[in-house]
Amino acid sequence: KRHLISAADLTRDDAVLILDTAEEMARLADRPIKKLPTLRGRTICNLFFEDSTRTRISFEAAEKRLSADVINFTAKGSSVSKGESLKDTAQTLAAIGVDAVVIRHHASGAPYRLATSGWIDAPVINAGDGTHQHPTQALLDAFTLRRRLVGRGSATGRPTGDDTARGCAGRDLSGRRVTIVGDVLHSRVARSNVDLLHTLGAEVTLVAPPTLVPVGVEDWPCEVTYDLDGALSACDAVMMLRVQRERMNAAFFPTEREYARRYGLDAPRMAKLPDHAVVMHPGPMVRGMEITAEVADSPRCTVVEQVANGVFVRMAVLYLLLGGSEPALTQPSSRTE
Ligand code: CP
Repeated sequence: KRHLISAADLTRDDAVLILDTAEEMARLADRPIKKLPTLRGRTICNLFFEDSTRTRISFEAAEKRLSADVINFTAKGSSVSKGESLKDTAQTLAAIGVDAVVIRHHASGAPYRLATSGWIDAPVINAGDGTHQHPTQALLDAFTLRRRLVGRGSATGRPTGDDTARGCAGRDLSGRRVTIVGDVLHSRVARSNVDLLHTLGAEVTLVAPPTLVPVGVEDWPCEVTYDLDGALSACDAVMMLRVQRERMNAAFFPTEREYARRYGLDAPRMAKLPDHAVVMHPGPMVRGMEITAEVADSPRCTVVEQVANGVFVRMAVLYLLLGGSEPALTQPSSRTE
């Protein structure tokens, strides 16, 4: 059974295949009739135990464009409020009959548990688990970066796609520099992006307040610095993270003003970026804290483009897991740091 649990499980060939397939999906979306019959007769359940706007809507749009039957489950209003476990919820879905499960859960490792427990015999796609992983977010970010940056020069001056022998030239992110800024400690987006961007050949630098740097970050395939302005001047893209107050003890909340001054992206700071560099944010944004409204609404900010690309990437993942002739995704690893 094939699943997508972690960006770390993807090889470069897997990731490039997903991005190339997403390009095909984007091309098809330009047709007057956007729907494909690929998943006709297949039922997909979106199992959301944690709030979401973009990911939930985007998966539903992707599933419908592939003609799947869609069941939407949100924990609010379900029997989870009466104490029902993930196991019993999964067995309920298995009894009803679903062909794939997209799961978002507040507990890191819940998608892995679902994929490996035997409670349900269906591919599992992780739509974000706790502070662990959000692989389709990393894929849509890589898709956006590839479209925006590849073939357009680099802060390092290096050519793109130095892997011509493996047929990846211009299709990965070799030599690109991405700076990720903010609450890395609580960010599954940061973890997923560090894994996937590294796999795709990019160089990643993390900038975070000292209290929001994870223990063990020295083992991640990236650099860590506290010099935000220096990191901005040498990158091709900056990815701003939301401060996840819902995962923090109130005593550790940074003050909004101080955080914005030290780690927020405003127009003067954005001006330090190379001319070609883009500003990314996974959403939801807290305008005025990690990003000013002026930056969020600027043409350099790809946040809306990222959302649009998310539909193509999720169509590609569903197609390759459920409908394509050559499933590309790998067995899940047990890493749930
Ligand atoms: N980027 C992201 O996961 O957004 P949502 O929480 O709205 O799904």
